[in-house]
Amino acid sequence: MDLFLLLAAAYLLGSVPFAIISSRLFGLADPRKYGSGNPGATNVLRSGNKAAALLTLVGDCLKGSAAVWLAGALGFSGTEAALAGLAAFFGHVFSLFLRFNGGKGVATALGVLLGIHPWLALVCLGVWLATAVLSRYSSAAALAAALAAPLAGYLLLGTPAIVATLLVMAATLIWRHAANIRRLIAGTEGRIGDKSGKAG
Ligand code: G3P
Repeated sequence: MDLFLLLAAAYLLGSVPFAIISSRLFGLADPRKYGSGNPGATNVLRSGNKAAALLTLVGDCLKGSAAVWLAGALGFSGTEAALAGLAAFFGHVFSLFLRFNGGKGVATALGVLLGIHPWLALVCLGVWLATAVLSRYSSAAALAAALAAPLAGYLLLGTPAIVATLLVMAATLIWRHAANIRRLIAGTEGRIGDKSGKAG
């Protein structure tokens, strides 16, 4: 398989919107129609259905890991595997199945980190959990973890191309949280467990 085909397959895999699939499976409303409008696990949790939110989280996470693992299994280099993860991440954010709209990329980014190096995922998960426990803002936790990812990648792996991939993923994730950042500054962001995530 050549690299272009791998990236196209990873993008397609990343485009599968688990928030929509799990919401349909559990008979819930479309997550784009309530709360923050984001098709992601945090917003599905606002439906009150924890199982649907967990399925969203696991599905969106594993598609990022699967893209990296698949690339490795096919004999691609570590850098090419990280690029496959980035393609899956872009699939989630600009989903082919959602007319190039999509989620904010947090769970898929975590899955990509897991595929690249388990310690990278563990460090960023630790940053996410610590920030989430202290602030109870899912978005603030995601932003802190996004900032930590390239730094942890540099310290753990040091490979410039992989660190650059992590930087692109972190910058995209932060950009996708622009509305959350505005609400955090204004003090109007919904906390984890609140049913009233604002639109945006
Ligand atoms: O995982 C996305 C999270 O960081 C923010 O989600 O729905 O509050 O915008 P949401």
